[in-house]
Amino acid sequence: MDLKSALANELKSQVLSSWTEEDISTLIEIPKHTHMGDLAFPCFRLAKEWRKAPGAIAEEIAHSLHSPMFNSVEAAGPYVNVRFDPVLTGKEIVSSILQQGVHYGSHSFGKGKTIVLDMSSPNIAKPFSMGHLRSTVIGNAIANIAETCGYETVRINYIGDWGTQFGKLITAFKKWGDEEKVKENPIAELFTLYKKFHEEAVQDPSLEDEGRKAFKLLEDGEEEITVLWKWFKNESLEAFKVIYSLLGVEFDSYNGEAFFNDKMEEVAELLEENQLLETSQGAKVVRLEDETLPPCLIRKTDGATLYATRDLAAALYRQREYSFDEALYVVGQEQTVHFKQVKGVLEKLGYEWADAMKHIPFGLYLKDGKKMSTRKGRVILLEEVLQEAIKMAGENIKKKNPDLKEAAAVARDVGVGAIIFHDVKNDRMNDIEFSLEHMLTFEGETGPYLQYTHARAQSILRKAGTPSPLSFEGLDDSSSWEVIKQLRLFPETVERAWKNYAPSILAKYLLELAKSFNSYYGNTKIIHNDPGQESRLTLVYVVAAVLSKGLTVLGIGSPDEM
Ligand code: ARG
Repeated sequence: MDLKSALANELKSQVLSSWTEEDISTLIEIPKHTHMGDLAFPCFRLAKEWRKAPGAIAEEIAHSLHSPMFNSVEAAGPYVNVRFDPVLTGKEIVSSILQQGVHYGSHSFGKGKTIVLDMSSPNIAKPFSMGHLRSTVIGNAIANIAETCGYETVRINYIGDWGTQFGKLITAFKKWGDEEKVKENPIAELFTLYKKFHEEAVQDPSLEDEGRKAFKLLEDGEEEITVLWKWFKNESLEAFKVIYSLLGVEFDSYNGEAFFNDKMEEVAELLEENQLLETSQGAKVVRLEDETLPPCLIRKTDGATLYATRDLAAALYRQREYSFDEALYVVGQEQTVHFKQVKGVLEKLGYEWADAMKHIPFGLYLKDGKKMSTRKGRVILLEEVLQEAIKMAGENIKKKNPDLKEAAAVARDVGVGAIIFHDVKNDRMNDIEFSLEHMLTFEGETGPYLQYTHARAQSILRKAGTPSPLSFEGLDDSSSWEVIKQLRLFPETVERAWKNYAPSILAKYLLELAKSFNSYYGNTKIIHNDPGQESRLTLVYVVAAVLSKGLTVLGIGSPDEM
């Protein structure tokens, strides 16, 4: 049972018959302090309708609201504060959670619909940047949330494996490269060559031309260049897969930009047929002035395609292949204009499904307040960050729990969990200052704190045994009631996280749940032979289940022991 709808229902039947339950529900708030009550109904909106002061209305409503579910109904200024009977309502809530079992928190409104997620999408021959980490973990969490709401998902890693930069890289390799060195340490070596190219090009601008030509040759399928490109790509993918396996992220497709090389003609033809293509200084563009956007470049003067051309081809392909209901592009906010242009062009082509394409932007990782740019080399290597986190978690375990079985796997869950949670707990639009120290703190509002809380609950159950069958007769202490109220919020939290494409909503919720559980644990003797023990253990069981499910949805492991 939902407390909000229970109160809305009473309000409607006893005082607000002309309102819909939904309208009442949206007004109901959770008071800032728990001592004020469980829910509050503000009376400002009614003041006009009833031509009375909100405070007087609150008094009136408080007098006429009655239900065996309510322990108290009080007017406090313009609010009606309601406190529920924790034994009666708590019993109803926990029983309904037990009835739903593993499905608790899941929804079915996404059934039969498909969400395509463009996520991670690093560029080959370059280090996997912190920006790509954000796209990977935010994208993966959103995909998991979508699945929890019943949707089918397709995770696409749109690898950046095409474009002028590969012409530059190939030019650099041919001039200064050493095959052995690349074999030894592919990403670092290729990245060094790429940086060298840019340094040298400042002195010798003709290099830029050479790079462009090399890319054109690649697009035309010239053999020697294609072999080099394939080699760079394979080496890069191998290195990326190490990171994905640490993060525990899998993809349904690795069709990157190059995959669309032979599908670009169609884009040009479609635009031509619809008379959308214009020549501007020798290049082909689609004008988007009416959308107050800069023109979208489709082909360069030499005929080479661009980032936008490939995204157009990819969108057409994905709609055909997956007939998506939504296509989410989890990509940094600096590409906002690009995605508006791509969508704008598809709209001009008359595709209604373009409406279902959504850019899900996120902020930057900053280093000393500045953007970390790959080109200038101000970059942090994610793999090192992950290994460092796992090492620290391992050392922690050695100190606290030297006999732990599967310690290596737990260290991985905890170290990686710290990094993932550090990212997803923030509103995704916020910039994050990169601090290894903060990422790796295991105290405070962190992933490891949630994992510890879950492991603590599991350890209680190991000690006392999980009641079978699980039963809950109601508890009347205030700290268990705070836990129950948090548990009740889980399904609507998942739904809200989906509607806002915001894993942070779920992350923050889990912190609240953990806090309420830890204070319950601090205040109550859970294992104590009295009639309430079964109910207390059942509550512990449900908390562990919700924490574990929530962490899993965020892409974080929840070891039973740590
Ligand atoms: N590879 C690009 C980058 O690193 C991101 C690709 C995003 N996805 C897309 N469909 N354009 O900037």
